[in-house]
Amino acid sequence: MSYLEATNNLYKEAALTPDVGLCCTTNPIWELPGLKIPKIMQEMNYGCGSTVNARDLTNNPKMLYVGVGGGMELLQFSYFNRQKGGVIGVDVVVEMLEASRKNFKEAEVQNDWFKSNFVELKKGDAMNLPVEDNSIDVAAQNCLFNIFKAEDLKKAIAEMYRVLKPHGRLVMSDPTCEQPMNDELRNDDRLRALCLSGSLPIADYVKALTDAGFGTIEIRARKPYRILDPKNYNTDELIYIESIEVAAIKDPMPEDGPCIFTGKAAIYFGDDDYVDDKKGHILLKNQPLAICDKTAGALASLGRDDIFISDSTFHYDGGGCC
Ligand SMILES: C[S@@+](CC[C@H](N)C(=O)[O-])C[C@H]1O[C@@H](n2cnc3c(N)ncnc32)[C@H](O)[C@@H]1O
Repeated sequence: MSYLEATNNLYKEAALTPDVGLCCTTNPIWELPGLKIPKIMQEMNYGCGSTVNARDLTNNPKMLYVGVGGGMELLQFSYFNRQKGGVIGVDVVVEMLEASRKNFKEAEVQNDWFKSNFVELKKGDAMNLPVEDNSIDVAAQNCLFNIFKAEDLKKAIAEMYRVLKPHGRLVMSDPTCEQPMNDELRNDDRLRALCLSGSLPIADYVKALTDAGFGTIEIRARKPYRILDPKNYNTDELIYIESIEVAAIKDPMPEDGPCIFTGKAAIYFGDDDYVDDKKGHILLKNQPLAICDKTAGALASLGRDDIFISDSTFHYDGGGCC
């Protein structure tokens, strides 16, 4: 059995018998005026963060969600769109599509603004999406891509890139891990399907996105996720897994490389009112400017003693350079 078949089997089981402990998100459930998340959707929250961010969701975006789980985030996305077929949900596991379909019916009972036909469910594979080119404003996946091995991950990201409109956004949440993992863990199909042993270091994860052509990357959050300990897993050392929330934006690739925001800021504290680096960045005195890692490097190379550049906070929420 391939690791993809093992994954399908695991999520078929998780669709038929909801498993509250399957994935562990530390996110509180979004509470918005008039939005009620049915209990069954909360029990089937198999994500590891949130991909729902109000600032991505203005002007009734056409949305795609790959790997639907119990449907919670599709309901949350629908909240911002409220149109027939406004969110396309794709999943390869028929039982998961059926479970989410049932959950949307329950959501309809609990939310007077929601109709099941706001979500169009399609059977399909992340590596071969049943979606037209350049047709989506916001595409999302939560805790699915980390399962994929390198070649499959490349295909899945390329598919998301293909279906997004220019400047469209791919929003994601996935586990990441900065420590090496041994081959036994890496090749354990069940652990991989459980989102425990496929995770990459953040830099590799980001490179997979920029290699596909995404010109802007935002790392919006970084959180503790899980531990693989020697007593319970095939490892000699404790392995710490985090999860990140990331947006990859289909902006053209800048000639000097991608803009990657990891939560750095520059603060000018010199004698003038501002500094203009003549490359499009104006630093007003004592006002932090969010900067991408490329701009951070360029400002640092000026060698000035009146510009402070912060470390990456891995919390970026918009604005700044680029
Ligand atoms: C870890 S769960 C995450 C579910 C949901 N995103 C959430 O946050 O609750 C992974 C989801 O991806 C689906 N899936 C697995 N392999 C897939 C594939 N190759 N293409 C599309 N969906 C897939 C599973 O059926 C399951 O719904």
